[in-house]
Amino acid sequence: MKFIIDDANIDKIKEIWEIYPCDGVTTNPSILAKNKKNPYLTLKEIRDFIGDEAELHVQVVANDYQGMLLDANTILKELGNHTYVKVPTTPVGLKVIKELKRNSINITATAIYSPMQGYLAGKAGANYVAPYINRIDNLGYNGIEVAKKIDHIFKNNNMDVKVLAASFKNSYQVLELCEYGIAACTISIDIIEGLIRNDSVAKAVDDFIQDFEELCGEEKTMSNCIK
Ligand code: E4P
Repeated sequence: MKFIIDDANIDKIKEIWEIYPCDGVTTNPSILAKNKKNPYLTLKEIRDFIGDEAELHVQVVANDYQGMLLDANTILKELGNHTYVKVPTTPVGLKVIKELKRNSINITATAIYSPMQGYLAGKAGANYVAPYINRIDNLGYNGIEVAKKIDHIFKNNNMDVKVLAASFKNSYQVLELCEYGIAACTISIDIIEGLIRNDSVAKAVDDFIQDFEELCGEEKTMSNCIK
């Protein structure tokens, strides 16, 4: 499963990237708005930091066919041709996805709330489709099941498109899809930081150090305890 950061705060991205095995960064207009600076400044900083090999997903904002294509072309010009252009999966979004596909552009179909949206986005040519796990849960449906169902549709129809699950609000949602073997999850920084946070782990590590210091003396470790 690809492990992707769903955030645009460059300082936090740097912190997380150093610790966790990350494959890329996703953003959306709301995430960019939190940074309170020009979106391309933010995005270029992220691209420079993560490098050309890592995935960067950037969403179009215009809501009409020509505007969305113009947004897509500008995103690619500013951030590199291999950037994934995120397109909301509306009827006009499907038309845009088909056109971008004709030009071999990397596409992430976003704002997916139903399996049929996922199927049509994949069929139209998206590389990834992004079901919104927590938002689906909040509508009274099961986001995890929607993600799995979309994945089954792709596999059963031999479709060359992957699920990039998004909109997580707790670790368990991530774990469920990790166990299932979903292609990718994009996770906000607060949720990433909670994935393995556990007081029992911290206590176990403290106890190991304390026991060792009782044996060898204060601040002794395996590198400085040799007599
Ligand atoms: C992906 O980038 C989606 O836009 C994002 O995960 C949505 O998350 P939210 O439901 O927390 O806004």
